[in-house]
Amino acid sequence: MKKCFWTLFCSILTVLVHAQSDRQILLETKNSALLLSVGANQRVTQSYFGKKLAPADYALLKGGREVYLTAGMENQNEPAIRIVHADGNPSLELQYVSHKTTSGGDSSTTSILLRDPQYPFEVTLYYTLYYNEDVIKAWTEIRNNEKKPVQLTAYASSLLHFNADAYWLTQFHGDWAREMNMVEEQLTNGIKTLESKLGTRSNFYQTQTFFVSINKPSTETEGELIAGSLNWTGNFKYNFEVDQRNGLRVISGINPYASNYNLQPSETFTTPAFLFTWSGHGKGEASRNLHHWARNYGVMDGNGSRMVLLNNWEATGMNFNEARLVELFGEAKKLGADLFLLDDGWFGNKYPRDNDKAGLGDWQEDKKKLPSGLGYLVNEAEKQGVKFGIWLEPEMVNPKSELYEKHPDWILKLPNRPENYGRNQLVLDLTNPKVQDFVYSIVDEMLTKTPRIAFIKWDCNRSMTNTYSAYLGSNQSHLYIEYTRGFYKVMDRLRAKYPSLPIMLCSGGGGRTDYGALKYFTEFWPSDNTDPLDRIYIQWGYSYFFPANTITAHITGMGKQSLKYKTDVAMMGKMGYDIRTNNFTPQELQFSEEAVKTYKRISPVIWRGDLYRLVSPYEKNRAVLMYVSKDQNQAILFNYHLNSTRSDVFGKVSLQGLDPKKRYRIKEINLFPGTKSVIADNDKVFTGEYLLQVGLALSARTTPLTSNVYELTVEP
Ligand code: DGJ
Repeated sequence: MKKCFWTLFCSILTVLVHAQSDRQILLETKNSALLLSVGANQRVTQSYFGKKLAPADYALLKGGREVYLTAGMENQNEPAIRIVHADGNPSLELQYVSHKTTSGGDSSTTSILLRDPQYPFEVTLYYTLYYNEDVIKAWTEIRNNEKKPVQLTAYASSLLHFNADAYWLTQFHGDWAREMNMVEEQLTNGIKTLESKLGTRSNFYQTQTFFVSINKPSTETEGELIAGSLNWTGNFKYNFEVDQRNGLRVISGINPYASNYNLQPSETFTTPAFLFTWSGHGKGEASRNLHHWARNYGVMDGNGSRMVLLNNWEATGMNFNEARLVELFGEAKKLGADLFLLDDGWFGNKYPRDNDKAGLGDWQEDKKKLPSGLGYLVNEAEKQGVKFGIWLEPEMVNPKSELYEKHPDWILKLPNRPENYGRNQLVLDLTNPKVQDFVYSIVDEMLTKTPRIAFIKWDCNRSMTNTYSAYLGSNQSHLYIEYTRGFYKVMDRLRAKYPSLPIMLCSGGGGRTDYGALKYFTEFWPSDNTDPLDRIYIQWGYSYFFPANTITAHITGMGKQSLKYKTDVAMMGKMGYDIRTNNFTPQELQFSEEAVKTYKRISPVIWRGDLYRLVSPYEKNRAVLMYVSKDQNQAILFNYHLNSTRSDVFGKVSLQGLDPKKRYRIKEINLFPGTKSVIADNDKVFTGEYLLQVGLALSARTTPLTSNVYELTVEP
């Protein structure tokens, strides 16, 4: 009803306000406020950012630091923007011209136009407010109205100021198969930078997600903080600068490294959006805000359903043929999976893709492995009752390929230098529209020829070196930016034609996990490490910023833990399989068939419920988390023991997110055949109040690498 009202009456509400001194621009979400002021000198400052205040209080807040600090004038700290005008003047002053707010649906966008008083050069700051989600998206348009090109050497999406006693930064870094390691440290004076220069798989070593806690480290439930993430699938840079007076500036945007941008007359440079949320109640609330936003706005089909799939990468590698695949379709069906996903190794004829040294770029079925083609496989899969999906890595090429032989000019490589390989491959030059057409046509032709392909896994197995584009000529410093824009152009075209095809974002594990890409993708592959013990940490890390329906988690042969443990760990995300089930014992098979049924039943709560992280694996030898349905009538609770020892004490865990007035029955689910719950509270009924205050004893013993899944259902 509320949405309807807004759509009908506020679809386009535009308020144009002319320059006036001491004017305030108040940007409010449900719980937070960002207050900007226009000073007598027409500079725009950030007067306040934090918890929403009573309306009268805002009038007391004046002045502050400039909201989009420029270089070359009086500012000597890190700028948000630095340009060199056409006449060589390396300074920029930005004065307020006007601002307007456009509302539509449940969000509103305020834009603030700024102009240099001496040069026809403009910057427009944009803030989209997602009121109910408490999320703000900030970005900038930079426009050159001068007669000659202007050089941009820094062009941030956003700058936020904080004034507190201390600041704590939580970052997430890693490596291949070691993604999302969380580290929290106090920021000291000077600049701490988090960045990527990797181009394609931009967040391989460092993800573009972070928390900054204000005054003291925040916990899951307490503390003031922001969570931030740049919606950009290329090089990013965050500067966290604590200045002489202990003020903190957080500058977020594309990494200007090797990327000076020549802005032509009448050209507008649009930065990617920086997404952030403020929380006054710790990291848990910040995560839930981002999850709500992601499902409603940030992820392709974010509120939709997902398929349980059986992938063959861990099970067969590239060593398969038609008969083996058809056998696997049967295994997928028996398991209850919805889809079989054929991974790497299905293509290439002159240079068959039998290992990672050849074939990449030649997207025709390998006639030896798959003589009857993809159409046959789709039919066979469907005959057995499962859908068929396929792996692609369309941005890359092996030197041993027909594509390399035919189009050497389509590949990023340096003149007069030997080629530098990563996984024996090179990166195609996606800045070139012909290459964009080629990448688009790989997918389009495949889906036109075999329209019932029901899923794609889009991989990207190397970062960028050889950074020279034959297409860009003298504009080489645009390469990193144009590559990412080229990727988005391809995805825009694909999504225009195939709006609902589920596509998994993958990058040799979790090298690409950002909201710039996720608007085109339904889910992502977090890591090639599927050992469930490691996965608890990896998935825990991603859960701070991404909802469970995007975090794919497959049960594989990796790790020596029980199948029950592996399955319980996969269930906390978007569960799937990558394992030969014909090696299972009858009990394991029975367990897995039931697990798939259980998962399908409870997944709406996991995918669309609210996440509460209760016990962190970073603090204890166990991890406990729960998802609660929106109506608070159902919850799923996961309890994982890590390498626990007898000296560990696993006390009661107070639950969160439940309605204190409701009564809940606790049931342990996903038990292995022939076993019973040994938890004393199993199948008992408690009030929400009791569960929130007293909690539950979730672990009967401290046995390492064991786990439990509980379902809480409201009693009538
Ligand atoms: C890297 C991915 O992360 C794996 O899951 C698999 O698809 C391989 N690439 C295939 O080359």
